[in-house]
Amino acid sequence: MPKELIRLVDCLMVFDDEIVLDSINLYINDREFLTLLGPSGCGKTTTLRIIGGFQKPTSGSVLFDGVRINDVPPHKRKVNTVFQKYALFTHMNVFENVAFGLRIAKVPEAEIRRRVAETLALVNLSGVERRSVDSLSGGQQQRVAIARAVVNRPQVLLLDEPLGALDLKLRKEMQIELKKIQQQVGITFVYVTHDQEEALTMSDTIVVMNNGKIQQIGSPTDIYNEPKNAFVADFIGESNILDGVMLRDYVVSFAGRQFECLDHGFRAEEPVDVVVRPEDLHIVEPEKGQLQGVVQSVIFKGVHYEMVVRSGEQDWLVQSTLFRPAGETIGLQLTPNDIHIMHKS
Ligand SMILES: Nc1ncnc2c1ncn2[C@@H]1O[C@H](COP(=O)(O)OP(=O)(O)OP(=O)(O)O)[C@@H](O)[C@H]1O
Ligand SMILES: [Mg+2]
Repeated sequence: MPKELIRLVDCLMVFDDEIVLDSINLYINDREFLTLLGPSGCGKTTTLRIIGGFQKPTSGSVLFDGVRINDVPPHKRKVNTVFQKYALFTHMNVFENVAFGLRIAKVPEAEIRRRVAETLALVNLSGVERRSVDSLSGGQQQRVAIARAVVNRPQVLLLDEPLGALDLKLRKEMQIELKKIQQQVGITFVYVTHDQEEALTMSDTIVVMNNGKIQQIGSPTDIYNEPKNAFVADFIGESNILDGVMLRDYVVSFAGRQFECLDHGFRAEEPVDVVVRPEDLHIVEPEKGQLQGVVQSVIFKGVHYEMVVRSGEQDWLVQSTLFRPAGETIGLQLTPNDIHIMHKS
Protein backbone atom coordinates (compact mmCIF):
# COMPACT_ATOMS: atom_id res chain seq x y z
CA MET A 1 0.00 0.00 0.00
CA PRO A 2 1.43 3.41 -0.90
CA LYS A 3 1.76 5.70 2.06
CA GLU A 4 0.38 9.22 1.88
CA LEU A 5 2.98 11.90 2.60
CA ILE A 6 1.61 15.30 1.67
CA ARG A 7 -1.93 16.57 1.41
CA LEU A 8 -3.33 19.93 0.36
CA VAL A 9 -6.81 20.51 1.73
CA ASP A 10 -8.96 23.25 0.17
CA CYS A 11 -5.91 25.40 -0.50
CA LEU A 12 -7.02 28.82 -1.64
CA MET A 13 -4.53 31.47 -2.74
CA VAL A 14 -5.58 35.02 -3.37
CA PHE A 15 -3.22 37.73 -4.66
CA ASP A 16 -4.55 41.28 -5.02
CA ASP A 17 -8.20 40.12 -4.90
CA GLU A 18 -7.49 37.60 -7.61
CA ILE A 19 -7.99 33.88 -7.02
CA VAL A 20 -4.80 32.21 -8.15
CA LEU A 21 -5.51 28.79 -6.62
CA ASP A 22 -9.13 27.85 -6.29
CA SER A 23 -9.47 25.43 -3.34
CA ILE A 24 -6.98 22.82 -4.45
CA ASN A 25 -7.26 19.30 -3.02
CA LEU A 26 -4.42 16.95 -3.68
CA TYR A 27 -2.42 14.19 -2.00
CA ILE A 28 1.06 12.93 -2.77
CA ASN A 29 2.30 9.47 -1.80
CA ASP A 30 5.72 8.63 -0.43
CA ARG A 31 8.21 7.94 -3.27
CA GLU A 32 5.77 9.07 -5.92
CA PHE A 33 6.81 11.06 -8.98
CA LEU A 34 3.99 13.58 -9.23
CA THR A 35 3.89 16.28 -11.89
CA LEU A 36 1.96 19.54 -11.90
CA LEU A 37 1.20 20.26 -15.55
CA GLY A 38 -0.52 23.24 -17.08
CA PRO A 39 -0.13 26.42 -19.13
CA SER A 40 1.74 29.50 -17.97
CA GLY A 41 0.05 31.27 -15.07
CA CYS A 42 -2.17 28.34 -14.03
CA GLY A 43 -0.68 28.19 -10.52
CA LYS A 44 1.99 25.47 -10.70
CA THR A 45 4.79 27.43 -9.04
CA THR A 46 2.39 28.79 -6.42
CA THR A 47 1.34 25.23 -5.51
CA LEU A 48 4.99 24.18 -5.27
CA ARG A 49 5.83 27.18 -3.10
CA ILE A 50 2.99 26.31 -0.75
CA ILE A 51 4.34 22.77 -0.38
CA GLY A 52 7.86 24.13 0.15
CA GLY A 53 6.67 26.65 2.72
CA PHE A 54 7.74 29.75 0.78
CA GLN A 55 4.13 30.84 0.62
CA LYS A 56 1.21 30.40 3.00
CA PRO A 57 -2.18 29.66 1.48
CA THR A 58 -4.83 32.31 2.09
CA SER A 59 -6.92 29.51 3.57
CA GLY A 60 -6.79 25.73 3.71
CA SER A 61 -4.28 23.28 5.14
CA VAL A 62 -0.98 21.74 4.15
CA LEU A 63 -0.45 18.35 5.81
CA PHE A 64 2.79 16.39 6.04
CA ASP A 65 2.43 12.87 7.42
CA GLY A 66 -1.00 13.95 8.63
CA VAL A 67 0.33 16.94 10.59
CA ARG A 68 -0.64 20.49 9.67
CA ILE A 69 2.53 22.38 8.64
CA ASN A 70 1.13 25.72 7.42
CA ASP A 71 3.28 27.55 9.96
CA VAL A 72 6.45 25.47 9.59
CA PRO A 73 9.17 27.49 7.78
CA PRO A 74 10.86 26.03 4.65
CA HIS A 75 14.12 24.98 6.32
CA LYS A 76 12.23 22.96 8.93
CA ARG A 77 10.33 20.94 6.30
CA LYS A 78 11.71 17.64 4.98
CA VAL A 79 11.63 19.20 1.57
CA ASN A 80 14.28 20.58 -0.78
CA THR A 81 13.75 22.67 -3.87
CA VAL A 82 15.44 22.91 -7.26
CA PHE A 83 14.35 26.20 -8.78
CA GLN A 84 14.28 26.91 -12.46
CA LYS A 85 16.99 29.52 -11.99
CA TYR A 86 19.25 27.25 -10.01
CA ALA A 87 21.84 29.89 -9.00
CA LEU A 88 24.98 27.88 -8.35
CA PHE A 89 27.79 29.49 -6.36
CA THR A 90 30.11 30.54 -9.16
CA HIS A 91 33.04 31.26 -6.86
CA MET A 92 33.02 27.66 -5.60
CA ASN A 93 34.00 24.48 -7.40
CA VAL A 94 31.64 21.59 -8.01
CA PHE A 95 32.54 19.79 -4.79
CA GLU A 96 31.93 22.85 -2.62
CA ASN A 97 28.63 23.63 -4.36
CA VAL A 98 27.34 20.17 -3.52
CA ALA A 99 28.86 20.15 -0.03
CA PHE A 100 27.37 23.54 0.89
CA GLY A 101 24.24 22.32 2.68
CA LEU A 102 26.15 19.66 4.58
CA ARG A 103 28.70 22.21 5.81
CA ILE A 104 25.88 24.42 7.08
CA ALA A 105 24.43 21.40 8.88
CA LYS A 106 27.89 20.79 10.43
CA VAL A 107 28.18 17.28 9.05
CA PRO A 108 31.66 15.81 9.81
CA GLU A 109 34.22 16.29 7.02
CA ALA A 110 34.71 12.57 6.29
CA GLU A 111 30.99 12.08 5.85
CA ILE A 112 30.77 15.15 3.63
CA ARG A 113 33.43 13.66 1.34
CA ARG A 114 31.68 10.34 1.18
CA ARG A 115 28.22 11.77 0.53
CA VAL A 116 29.36 14.30 -2.08
CA ALA A 117 31.29 11.59 -3.95
CA GLU A 118 28.27 9.28 -3.81
CA THR A 119 25.92 11.97 -5.05
CA LEU A 120 28.19 13.12 -7.88
CA ALA A 121 28.42 9.51 -9.03
CA LEU A 122 24.63 9.34 -8.98
CA VAL A 123 24.31 12.30 -11.35
CA ASN A 124 27.21 11.09 -13.52
CA LEU A 125 29.60 13.85 -12.55
CA SER A 126 32.44 11.92 -10.93
CA GLY A 127 35.79 13.42 -11.86
CA VAL A 128 34.79 17.09 -12.13
CA GLU A 129 34.84 17.84 -8.38
CA ARG A 130 37.57 20.47 -8.66
CA ARG A 131 36.24 22.20 -11.79
CA SER A 132 34.68 25.63 -11.42
CA VAL A 133 30.96 25.52 -12.16
CA ASP A 134 31.42 28.22 -14.83
CA SER A 135 33.44 25.82 -16.91
CA LEU A 136 30.61 23.26 -17.07
CA SER A 137 28.01 22.85 -19.82
CA GLY A 138 24.39 23.74 -19.15
CA GLY A 139 23.49 20.09 -18.62
CA GLN A 140 26.37 19.56 -16.21
CA GLN A 141 25.41 22.66 -14.22
CA GLN A 142 21.88 21.31 -14.00
CA ARG A 143 23.24 18.07 -12.57
CA VAL A 144 25.22 20.00 -9.96
CA ALA A 145 22.01 21.76 -8.93
CA ILE A 146 20.26 18.41 -8.57
CA ALA A 147 23.19 16.88 -6.67
CA ARG A 148 23.18 19.87 -4.34
CA ALA A 149 19.55 19.20 -3.48
CA VAL A 150 19.75 15.40 -3.31
CA VAL A 151 22.85 15.30 -1.08
CA ASN A 152 20.83 16.64 1.86
CA ARG A 153 18.61 13.54 1.60
CA PRO A 154 15.32 15.36 1.63
CA GLN A 155 12.26 13.19 1.84
CA VAL A 156 10.70 15.29 -0.89
CA LEU A 157 12.30 17.15 -3.78
CA LEU A 158 10.38 19.98 -5.42
CA LEU A 159 11.51 20.73 -8.97
CA ASP A 160 10.22 23.79 -10.83
CA GLU A 161 10.82 23.34 -14.57
CA PRO A 162 14.36 22.15 -13.83
CA LEU A 163 15.11 21.28 -17.45
CA GLY A 164 13.60 24.40 -19.00
CA ALA A 165 16.96 25.93 -19.91
CA LEU A 166 18.29 22.88 -21.75
CA ASP A 167 18.03 22.10 -25.45
CA LEU A 168 15.68 19.33 -26.54
CA LYS A 169 18.20 16.50 -26.84
CA LEU A 170 19.82 17.20 -23.48
CA ARG A 171 16.39 17.62 -21.90
CA LYS A 172 15.37 14.14 -23.05
CA GLU A 173 18.56 12.63 -21.63
CA MET A 174 18.10 14.42 -18.32
CA GLN A 175 14.47 13.30 -18.12
CA ILE A 176 15.61 9.68 -18.15
CA GLU A 177 18.38 10.36 -15.65
CA LEU A 178 16.18 12.27 -13.24
CA LYS A 179 13.69 9.44 -13.24
CA LYS A 180 16.51 6.99 -12.56
CA ILE A 181 17.82 9.11 -9.69
CA GLN A 182 14.35 9.36 -8.19
CA GLN A 183 13.93 5.59 -8.27
CA GLN A 184 17.44 4.84 -6.96
CA VAL A 185 17.30 7.27 -4.06
CA GLY A 186 13.64 6.63 -3.34
CA ILE A 187 12.61 10.25 -2.80
CA THR A 188 9.24 11.78 -3.55
CA PHE A 189 9.43 14.15 -6.52
CA VAL A 190 6.97 16.98 -7.07
CA TYR A 191 7.80 18.20 -10.54
CA VAL A 192 6.51 21.23 -12.42
CA THR A 193 6.40 21.49 -16.18
CA HIS A 194 4.26 22.92 -18.95
CA ASP A 195 5.56 20.27 -21.36
CA GLN A 196 2.99 17.50 -21.70
CA GLU A 197 5.43 15.04 -23.25
CA GLU A 198 7.81 15.50 -20.33
CA ALA A 199 4.97 14.90 -17.90
CA LEU A 200 3.81 11.78 -19.72
CA THR A 201 7.26 10.17 -19.84
CA MET A 202 8.38 10.86 -16.28
CA SER A 203 5.41 10.80 -13.93
CA ASP A 204 3.57 8.23 -11.85
CA THR A 205 0.79 10.78 -11.41
CA ILE A 206 -0.07 13.92 -13.38
CA VAL A 207 -2.10 16.82 -12.02
CA VAL A 208 -3.43 18.88 -14.91
CA MET A 209 -4.16 22.49 -13.92
CA ASN A 210 -5.77 25.44 -15.62
CA ASN A 211 -6.71 28.84 -14.21
CA GLY A 212 -5.92 27.87 -10.63
CA LYS A 213 -8.13 24.79 -10.79
CA ILE A 214 -7.25 21.12 -10.96
CA GLN A 215 -8.74 19.70 -14.13
CA GLN A 216 -7.75 16.07 -13.69
CA ILE A 217 -5.49 13.85 -11.58
CA GLY A 218 -4.38 10.47 -12.88
CA SER A 219 -1.68 8.25 -14.30
CA PRO A 220 -0.19 9.24 -17.67
CA THR A 221 -2.25 6.56 -19.45
CA ASP A 222 -5.47 7.64 -17.68
CA ILE A 223 -4.93 11.24 -18.59
CA TYR A 224 -4.01 10.47 -22.18
CA ASN A 225 -6.67 7.86 -22.85
CA GLU A 226 -9.49 9.17 -20.68
CA PRO A 227 -9.23 12.96 -20.54
CA LYS A 228 -12.00 14.38 -18.39
CA ASN A 229 -12.72 17.44 -20.46
CA ALA A 230 -11.80 19.17 -23.69
CA PHE A 231 -9.12 21.27 -21.97
CA VAL A 232 -7.22 18.20 -20.79
CA ALA A 233 -7.66 16.44 -24.12
CA ASP A 234 -6.32 19.43 -25.98
CA PHE A 235 -3.49 20.18 -23.59
CA ILE A 236 -2.26 16.63 -23.28
CA GLY A 237 -1.88 15.97 -26.98
CA GLU A 238 -2.98 17.18 -30.34
CA SER A 239 -6.63 16.38 -30.74
CA ASN A 240 -9.57 16.88 -32.99
CA ILE A 241 -12.27 18.49 -30.85
CA LEU A 242 -15.75 18.78 -32.36
CA ASP A 243 -19.21 19.76 -31.27
CA GLY A 244 -21.47 16.77 -31.08
CA VAL A 245 -24.84 15.67 -29.75
CA MET A 246 -25.37 12.55 -27.66
CA LEU A 247 -28.48 11.06 -29.30
CA ARG A 248 -28.91 8.24 -26.80
CA ASP A 249 -26.71 5.80 -24.89
CA TYR A 250 -23.85 4.58 -27.12
CA VAL A 251 -24.82 6.77 -30.10
CA VAL A 252 -23.37 10.18 -30.84
CA SER A 253 -23.76 12.49 -33.78
CA PHE A 254 -20.97 14.71 -35.12
CA ALA A 255 -19.47 15.69 -38.46
CA GLY A 256 -22.86 15.18 -40.09
CA ARG A 257 -23.43 11.53 -39.19
CA GLN A 258 -23.99 9.08 -36.36
CA PHE A 259 -21.29 7.01 -34.70
CA GLU A 260 -21.36 4.19 -32.22
CA CYS A 261 -19.43 4.98 -29.07
CA LEU A 262 -18.79 3.47 -25.64
CA ASP A 263 -20.31 6.31 -23.64
CA HIS A 264 -23.63 6.37 -21.86
CA GLY A 265 -25.45 8.18 -19.10
CA PHE A 266 -25.75 11.51 -20.89
CA ARG A 267 -29.01 13.43 -21.22
CA ALA A 268 -30.86 12.69 -24.46
CA GLU A 269 -29.79 15.23 -27.09
CA GLU A 270 -27.10 16.60 -24.76
CA PRO A 271 -24.55 18.78 -26.59
CA VAL A 272 -21.08 17.34 -25.97
CA ASP A 273 -17.44 17.80 -26.90
CA VAL A 274 -16.16 14.95 -29.04
CA VAL A 275 -12.43 14.29 -28.98
CA VAL A 276 -10.61 12.13 -31.53
CA ARG A 277 -6.84 11.65 -31.41
CA PRO A 278 -5.05 12.17 -34.75
CA GLU A 279 -3.51 8.69 -34.54
CA ASP A 280 -6.94 7.07 -34.10
CA LEU A 281 -8.22 8.13 -37.51
CA HIS A 282 -7.45 5.21 -39.81
CA ILE A 283 -6.92 5.82 -43.50
CA VAL A 284 -8.97 3.50 -45.73
CA GLU A 285 -10.29 3.47 -49.32
CA PRO A 286 -12.76 6.35 -49.78
CA GLU A 287 -15.80 4.09 -50.15
CA LYS A 288 -14.90 2.15 -47.01
CA GLY A 289 -14.60 5.20 -44.75
CA GLN A 290 -17.23 6.56 -42.39
CA LEU A 291 -15.88 9.92 -43.49
CA GLN A 292 -14.49 10.98 -46.84
CA GLY A 293 -12.09 13.84 -47.22
CA VAL A 294 -9.39 15.44 -49.32
CA VAL A 295 -5.82 15.68 -48.06
CA GLN A 296 -4.96 19.38 -47.75
CA SER A 297 -1.37 19.12 -46.58
CA VAL A 298 1.08 16.50 -45.44
CA ILE A 299 4.32 16.71 -43.46
CA PHE A 300 6.73 13.97 -42.42
CA LYS A 301 7.25 13.91 -38.63
CA GLY A 302 9.97 11.27 -38.40
CA VAL A 303 7.87 8.27 -37.44
CA HIS A 304 4.55 9.16 -39.04
CA TYR A 305 3.00 11.53 -41.53
CA GLU A 306 0.75 14.29 -40.31
CA MET A 307 -2.02 15.29 -42.65
CA VAL A 308 -4.81 17.81 -42.61
CA VAL A 309 -7.86 16.24 -44.24
CA ARG A 310 -10.92 18.30 -45.12
CA SER A 311 -14.25 16.52 -44.87
CA GLY A 312 -17.22 18.80 -45.45
CA GLU A 313 -16.71 21.81 -43.20
CA GLN A 314 -14.33 20.00 -40.87
CA ASP A 315 -10.53 19.86 -41.01
CA TRP A 316 -9.21 16.69 -39.38
CA LEU A 317 -5.69 16.27 -38.10
CA VAL A 318 -4.59 12.74 -39.06
CA GLN A 319 -1.39 10.94 -38.11
CA SER A 320 -0.52 7.79 -39.98
CA THR A 321 2.45 5.77 -41.16
CA LEU A 322 0.65 5.69 -44.54
CA PHE A 323 1.48 8.48 -46.95
CA ARG A 324 -1.28 10.12 -48.97
CA PRO A 325 -0.42 13.12 -51.17
CA ALA A 326 -2.22 16.46 -51.00
CA GLY A 327 -5.23 16.50 -53.29
CA GLU A 328 -6.03 12.79 -52.88
CA THR A 329 -9.46 11.74 -51.65
CA ILE A 330 -9.31 9.26 -48.78
CA GLY A 331 -11.64 7.52 -46.36
CA LEU A 332 -11.33 7.77 -42.58
CA GLN A 333 -12.44 5.02 -40.24
CA LEU A 334 -13.11 5.31 -36.50
CA THR A 335 -13.88 2.56 -34.00
CA PRO A 336 -16.16 3.27 -31.01
CA ASN A 337 -13.09 3.02 -28.78
CA ASP A 338 -11.48 5.97 -30.59
CA ILE A 339 -14.32 8.37 -29.83
CA HIS A 340 -14.14 10.23 -26.53
CA ILE A 341 -17.23 12.07 -25.34
CA MET A 342 -17.09 14.84 -22.77
CA HIS A 343 -19.61 17.03 -21.03
CA LYS A 344 -19.31 20.64 -22.20
CA SER A 345 -17.43 22.58 -19.54
N1 LIG B 1 3.48 37.20 -5.40
C1 LIG B 1 2.50 37.34 -6.29
N2 LIG B 1 1.73 38.45 -6.30
C2 LIG B 1 0.72 38.59 -7.19
N3 LIG B 1 0.39 37.67 -8.11
C3 LIG B 1 1.11 36.54 -8.15
C4 LIG B 1 2.21 36.31 -7.26
N4 LIG B 1 2.74 35.09 -7.53
C5 LIG B 1 2.01 34.60 -8.56
N5 LIG B 1 1.05 35.46 -8.94
C6 LIG B 1 0.05 35.23 -10.00
O1 LIG B 1 -0.52 33.97 -9.78
C7 LIG B 1 -0.79 33.30 -11.01
C8 LIG B 1 -0.15 31.94 -10.98
O2 LIG B 1 1.25 32.09 -10.97
P1 LIG B 1 2.26 30.85 -10.95
O3 LIG B 1 3.63 31.43 -10.89
O4 LIG B 1 1.88 29.92 -9.89
O5 LIG B 1 2.00 30.22 -12.37
P2 LIG B 1 2.75 29.04 -13.13
O6 LIG B 1 1.73 28.01 -13.44
O7 LIG B 1 3.96 28.61 -12.36
O8 LIG B 1 3.19 29.72 -14.50
P3 LIG B 1 4.56 29.59 -15.37
O9 LIG B 1 4.40 28.33 -16.19
O10 LIG B 1 4.52 30.80 -16.24
O11 LIG B 1 5.72 29.56 -14.43
C9 LIG B 1 -0.27 34.23 -12.09
O12 LIG B 1 -1.35 34.93 -12.63
C10 LIG B 1 0.69 35.14 -11.38
O13 LIG B 1 0.76 36.39 -12.02
MG1 LIG C 1 6.01 28.78 -12.70
